[in-house]
Amino acid sequence: MSRDVLATDRLRLRELDERRDSAFVLELLTDPSFLRHIGDRGVRDLDSARDYIRNGPRASYAQHGFGLWMVQARASGEALGLCGLLQRDSLPAPDIGYAFLPRHWSRGYAREACAAVRDHALGALKLPRLLAIVAPDNAASIRVLEHLGLRFERTFVNEAGEALHLYALDAAAAPRG
Ligand SMILES: CC(C)(COP(=O)(O)OP(=O)(O)OC[C@H]1O[C@@H](n2cnc3c(N)ncnc32)[C@H](O)[C@@H]1OP(=O)(O)O)[C@@H](O)C(=O)NCCC(=O)NCCS
Repeated sequence: MSRDVLATDRLRLRELDERRDSAFVLELLTDPSFLRHIGDRGVRDLDSARDYIRNGPRASYAQHGFGLWMVQARASGEALGLCGLLQRDSLPAPDIGYAFLPRHWSRGYAREACAAVRDHALGALKLPRLLAIVAPDNAASIRVLEHLGLRFERTFVNEAGEALHLYALDAAAAPRG
C-alpha cells in the first residue's frame, strides 16, 4: 500500500512501498552522494532495500504518522527522490530529510518537495518546531534549508562523532509557499 501524502505543482509525495520501490531505494541509497552526505544505511541489494523500507520509513509512518516519503514527478510518474520527516532519539524535535538522484538535481525539486513537507509538518501535523542536520560542506543542502527559512542554530555531534550543523525553524516564524 502506498498512500498519497502531499502534492505540489510538479510533484507527488507518497508512502514508500516495499515491493514497488525497492529498486529505486537501492539506487538512491547506494549513490555516492547519498553515502557521502547522509550515510550508509546498509542497503546493498533488493532484499536489504526492502528491509530498509519496512524497518525505516514504514515503521516510522506507523509509529509517528510521518517518515521519509517517495517523491515522484506528477507528469511522468518518474521516481526522483525521498523527502520527509524523521524522529531521531538524538534530537528533541523531528528533522526534515531529503535526497534526490543526481540526474534530477538543480531543477528546484528539493526546494519544492521540502517546502510542502515543511508546511505539512508545521500545519497539519502541528509540530511546534522543525529541525535539520547537515554537514557543513553540503552547500546545496544548506541552500535548500535557507530557502525553507531554517536558520543555523548550533553545531551538533551525531552518533558517529561527526560535527554537523543543526538548523531550526519555529512554527510561529515559518514562511509559507
Ligand atoms: C541537496 C539536494 C537534495 C539538492 O537537491 P536539488 O533538487 O538539486 O535542489 P534544488 O534544485 O531544489 O536547489 C538546490 C540549491 O542549491 C544550489 N546548489 C546546487 N549545487 C550547489 C553547490 N555545489 N554549491 C552551492 N549551491 C549549490 C542551487 O543553485 C539551488 O539554489 P538556488 O535555488 O538558490 O539556485 C541534492 O543535492 C542531494 O540529493 N544531495 C545528496 C543528498 C543530500 O545531501 N541530502 C541532504 C542531507 S542534509
